[in-house]
Amino acid sequence: MEKVKIAILGFGNVGTGVWKILQENRKEIMKRSNYDIEVAKILVSDINKKREIELPKGVLTNNIDDIINDDSIKIVVELIGGRGQAKEYMIRAMKAKKHIVTANKLVVANWGEELFKIAEEENVLFYYEASVAGGIPIIREINESLTANRIEQIIGIINGTTNYILSKMTNDGISFDEALKEAQDKGYAEADPTSDVDGFDAVYKLAIMASLAFGTKVDHDCIYREGIRNISAVDIEYAQKFGYTIKLLAIAKEENNKLELRVHPTLIPSNHPMANVNDVFNAILIKGNAVGELMLYGKGAGDLPTGSAVVGDIISILRNNVKPSDLKAISGEEDFKEVKNSDENESEFYIRLNVKDRAGVLGDTAKIFGKNNVSITSLTQDVVHKEYVLLAFITHKSSERNIRESLKKIKELENVNEIESIIRIESFN
Ligand code: NDP
Ligand code: HSE
Repeated sequence: MEKVKIAILGFGNVGTGVWKILQENRKEIMKRSNYDIEVAKILVSDINKKREIELPKGVLTNNIDDIINDDSIKIVVELIGGRGQAKEYMIRAMKAKKHIVTANKLVVANWGEELFKIAEEENVLFYYEASVAGGIPIIREINESLTANRIEQIIGIINGTTNYILSKMTNDGISFDEALKEAQDKGYAEADPTSDVDGFDAVYKLAIMASLAFGTKVDHDCIYREGIRNISAVDIEYAQKFGYTIKLLAIAKEENNKLELRVHPTLIPSNHPMANVNDVFNAILIKGNAVGELMLYGKGAGDLPTGSAVVGDIISILRNNVKPSDLKAISGEEDFKEVKNSDENESEFYIRLNVKDRAGVLGDTAKIFGKNNVSITSLTQDVVHKEYVLLAFITHKSSERNIRESLKKIKELENVNEIESIIRIESFN
């Protein structure tokens, strides 16, 4: 069987996962790719670091030139992450006629257009399945299996770290910090976990999926973003009282040629399958005009699940079954689609106020909601302290503008201490 040499940039969580899969499933991979894959070089930053896996002598290097200048290396797998060097190394590798596989959503969402253009010019392939939702083969699903459809919406739990944190806070009652530490120890979080916790990682992934699904270049800066930092045990408890579970959702909808794009914590009905997507699992619900609703579920992070997507891409390159021109949608060559201003978006809302325990406060608040066309579905009031009361409302579908205007006025009420939470609701209708 013919041998093919590849190089891996990065030997952290995902890099070691890829190595393990290539060893463990070598026979199957040979059969499916028709090649015997040899990892000729692995780039790391610290060559003396103690590692879980002992590598053959001469494989580890801290010099990218050992890879770029080696013409026998045909595929470069970028798993160092971050922006600067990852992008530079991929460009240099493509200019040296090497195919690319990457899991780097930050780079694909920011510079995909530039990278795909270089891939096309250099006649090499650029694959990025692992950049969205770890082990779930969502890129192939959108690019191949669902191409008969006009996609109307994508709603996903697409960040494993935040889903792990919210699940642990909800189901085990542990704190945000403890849950984040566990997610980091398990290798799910980004090197800088603010990317997970503040929703940036999900925004990059949504930009990639929406670009492919809606055939337009979606700029990640146009996506409304809120992370999970402010979600408290109190909100989780209230959500449960109202029959909801809190998840970080990434939402992309197309209506009348306009896109609605947002990432934020969301209350979803506890009896919806998405509410039972726990720990590091991700799920993506796609609605196509032919297929109807389709839901994909699987591990969204971790060494082997992500490695599975990466090795799948390596095998696809060896089979050479997709040409770079298939990636045109994300490189902005299709129709332009306007992104709706977030003020125009409509949802139901959960709003929690901390108010003084005085007569009239509920009436004053309700009057302001009414004046701004926000109607209330349910409400609960709890006296948790002799000085204040917690008022929690669920609204009917309202525009973001009307909610904002109401809350501006409510904040000015003398008996309102604080607006403690505003969380959108997705009812999947
Ligand atoms: P890690 O931080 O675990 O590993 C990074 C690796 O890259 C380390 O081996 C590190 O070297 C090496 N490295 C970092 N910077 C450089 C550099 N400048 N030059 C050479 N080597 C460098 O990251 P992960 O494996 O978790 O993530 C890798 C990529 O995969 C990221 O883009 C991430 O977003 C993406 N991803 C991660 C998932 C996960 O579950 N973790 C899931 C899906 C995607 P050293 O070992 O010497 O420190
Ligand atoms: N940090 C990311 C997550 C890795 O938690 O989902 C997978 O992309």
